[in-house]
Amino acid sequence: MSQLSCHLQLPPTSYDIVIRCGLLQEEAFLRKQLLALASRFVLIADEKTASLYGKALQKILGEKTLLLSFPGGEVNKTRATKEHLEDRLLEQGWGSDTCILALGGGVVTDLAGFVAATYCRGVPFVTIPTSLMAMIDASLGGKTGVNTSYGKNMIGCVYQPKLVLIDPCLVSSLPLRELRNGIVEIIKHGLIADASLFSYLDTHVDTLLSLDPETLSYVISESCRIKITLVEQGPKRTLLNFGHTVGHALEKLTDYTLPHGEAVAIGILVESHMALQMGLLQQKVFEKMQNLLARYGLPLKLPKRFSYAACTEAMQLDKKSLLGKPRFVLLEEMGSAKSCDGAYCASVEESVLETALTWMNDALCCN
Ligand SMILES: NC(=O)c1ccc[n+]([C@@H]2O[C@H](COP(=O)([O-])OP(=O)(O)OC[C@H]3O[C@@H](n4cnc5c(N)ncnc54)[C@H](O)[C@@H]3O)[C@@H](O)[C@H]2O)c1
Ligand SMILES: [Zn+2]
Repeated sequence: MSQLSCHLQLPPTSYDIVIRCGLLQEEAFLRKQLLALASRFVLIADEKTASLYGKALQKILGEKTLLLSFPGGEVNKTRATKEHLEDRLLEQGWGSDTCILALGGGVVTDLAGFVAATYCRGVPFVTIPTSLMAMIDASLGGKTGVNTSYGKNMIGCVYQPKLVLIDPCLVSSLPLRELRNGIVEIIKHGLIADASLFSYLDTHVDTLLSLDPETLSYVISESCRIKITLVEQGPKRTLLNFGHTVGHALEKLTDYTLPHGEAVAIGILVESHMALQMGLLQQKVFEKMQNLLARYGLPLKLPKRFSYAACTEAMQLDKKSLLGKPRFVLLEEMGSAKSCDGAYCASVEESVLETALTWMNDALCCN
């Protein structure tokens, strides 16, 4: 019997994120960037993004580009859709010289990224996000995956794109509710890492909601900068989960009828209420964030009251939980959160959690 050990020095990964209004019409630039990665392309989109932007992009890239689409929505981010897309590629003889382009919201970038990670044991992958959520979150950082009946994003892997192409002006066709979902994550980025982004969002509500290209490009690029900086810093990545312990629980408790952004907006407030009670956060900062979320039109409304027991049970499986106890990102002030022995989340006293959930039910419930 012998024992060997295998040591691999994986090459460091880096990729460019290009952010520019009108980017998807820059034919020469797109061809130059993409042809440097591969000679043939498979564009994966949902039916909506395929018809809005897929055909035009296919035309720019020429005949060696296949456009594959699937019915959109979270319910189709599944292993079955992945298999269906893979079978189309296999049938038509696409090999390891293929580059996969994900054109769509987070459902498309997560799913197409997972296809790229496993097709021929991994082919190059480029994200071209079309929803605000995908532009500032799902297209960056390399998390890919699908949902199962046991839970969301339960099967997947981390697989980095070779390039991210963001045309902020594509959000002009996005429904307002989807736009607001993305704005919540941008507000979150300001709260956890950059008070000046929060102030900018505070003074540009009208221009952002009217989709002014300069405002959009600024908040998207600042938001991407914050996300990649935190992803690069390892443990600080946890900060991106601010508002999500409670947010995910609310999504689960409403059978996912409460959209992710709306649930996270409430989660941001409930988790900030805990920081408020613990003397970490000032009342005026708490009120400022509540006001800003409301000014962007977030409903901040629960469909019904949720008991302490139901909420804590729904939080138990949160990935930050330690020994079955939920943990939360706790804000200290605008733009910075508490570090607890090198972790950026902590559990709180039961009474603090209970008071925060009581506040949520009293302040945000319909009855
Ligand atoms: N990988 C990550 O790090 C990460 C981060 C955040 C979210 N996500 C995932 O992203 C998904 C949510 O993303 P989403 O909010 O973009 O949802 P989505 O992909 O379902 O898009 C929302 C809707 O908007 C439509 N749409 C997208 N772009 C459009 C455009 N420009 N014009 C008109 N309609 C457009 C889509 O067809 C869809 O109907 C979830 O599955 C979530 O798990 C992943
Ligand atoms: Zn989120």
